[in-house]
Amino acid sequence: MYIEEHSEALKHLLKHRTPALPQELLNKCVAKVHSMADVFLSAAEKFGSPLYFIDKQALLNSADLFRSAFSSKFDDFTPYFAMKSCNHPYIIRTLAEAGFGIDVSSGVELQTAIGCGAEKIVFSGPAKTLKELSLAAEYSDRVTILCDSFTELNKLSSLGRNVRIGVRLTTENNPLWRKFGIPLDELQRFIMTAAEIKHISFCGVQFHSSWNLTPDNHTALIKLIGETIAELPEKLRNMIEFMDIGGGYWPEDGEWLLADSAEEMKLNKQLLKNPCDPLDHRCVPSTGIDIYADAVWAAVETHIRPHLKCAIYAEPGRWVCHESIHLLLRVEDIKLPDIAITDGGTNMIGWERFEMDYFPVVNVSDISMTEHPMMILGSLCTPHDIWGHTFHGGGVKIGDVLVIPNQGAYTYSLRQNFIKSVPESVVFDGKNINGVNCTSF
Ligand SMILES: Cc1ncc(COP(=O)(O)O)c(C=O)c1O
Repeated sequence: MYIEEHSEALKHLLKHRTPALPQELLNKCVAKVHSMADVFLSAAEKFGSPLYFIDKQALLNSADLFRSAFSSKFDDFTPYFAMKSCNHPYIIRTLAEAGFGIDVSSGVELQTAIGCGAEKIVFSGPAKTLKELSLAAEYSDRVTILCDSFTELNKLSSLGRNVRIGVRLTTENNPLWRKFGIPLDELQRFIMTAAEIKHISFCGVQFHSSWNLTPDNHTALIKLIGETIAELPEKLRNMIEFMDIGGGYWPEDGEWLLADSAEEMKLNKQLLKNPCDPLDHRCVPSTGIDIYADAVWAAVETHIRPHLKCAIYAEPGRWVCHESIHLLLRVEDIKLPDIAITDGGTNMIGWERFEMDYFPVVNVSDISMTEHPMMILGSLCTPHDIWGHTFHGGGVKIGDVLVIPNQGAYTYSLRQNFIKSVPESVVFDGKNINGVNCTSF
């Protein structure tokens, strides 16, 4: 019955094919790791392994590209790096020094941002506690609180401290996303309520949508907000000094997946029980950041500018930091011809990322562009500890140094002291490699 009812949808899914990862994109990524092989080997020699290898130049380069894409379009643009994507103090300090604002979502993130010298901070996130709001009020010279509800407005009212605020708007009907922000049709009441509280200065609106491989979500939301703003009385509308368009920009190389985790292959695997070829990688394409910025600019020109001239804020996380950290591991054991075990475990990244996502595991001790099937596993005492199903190299032997590139986003900030402790970090600034003492920030 179920199959009959849904046969068309099933046929569509089985026919759909997530595009293959273009070989030239993969080769480029591996070649970049090869070009730094000596640096990785010296880092392992000097500091041991496993390591978080921070690439300062890669971080600054991405930050610059992101900022330039939007600043070339908007006169008044400020990027706030979303700390949840990578809360490494070195990354936060470096971005703050480069003039980025920081987007925090808890009291502890706020303290880290302040400790790292951030001068512009937005504080978003649901159900902020009175303690967190008081901390934000203490630093009101540099923090804008993005209220998530009327309850937060009441809490701020009871605090009686001068604060600058904005409000987050609910953007999706998805049950889990309804927990964020206030509905658009409550915006007028929110601004009117805030305007009545003497020490509260209402200045803007925020939205955030996630996992955007194209600008479509952003442009649709900007249109909706424009329609709502158009209906506001002029006095309230003029209070909006900024529109914060959140984060969710997917890096230009697209989303790299194991063939097993492409939607249609999951079904294929269930129905046909065919194991996937480990050398088959897929890639959901993404949009370049310039095209993204263009589309956002056009949407703002069309839907916001006729009613309002405001500054634009954005909260990029993944886009800015994903190339900034590479994982460095050493082969500790070879159990079977097709199983190598490394000294580091996936507690370094805090989740089973490589059961879905694909990134090359590059042997920098034995360089080759050839990719071979082999299970590359971590050394945690659990089978859910996998780095990859293949490696790039001539072979793999005990003691070889392996690098998994581009692991800056949603890995370090999810690290766990699960079975093994969290490894050390080193920074490569283009010339020297230095250890980073995270507690000194
Ligand atoms: C409010 C907010 N802003 C920004 C981000 C950063 O998103 P991304 O890393 O996808 O750019 C997130 C991520 O969940 C978020 O919740």
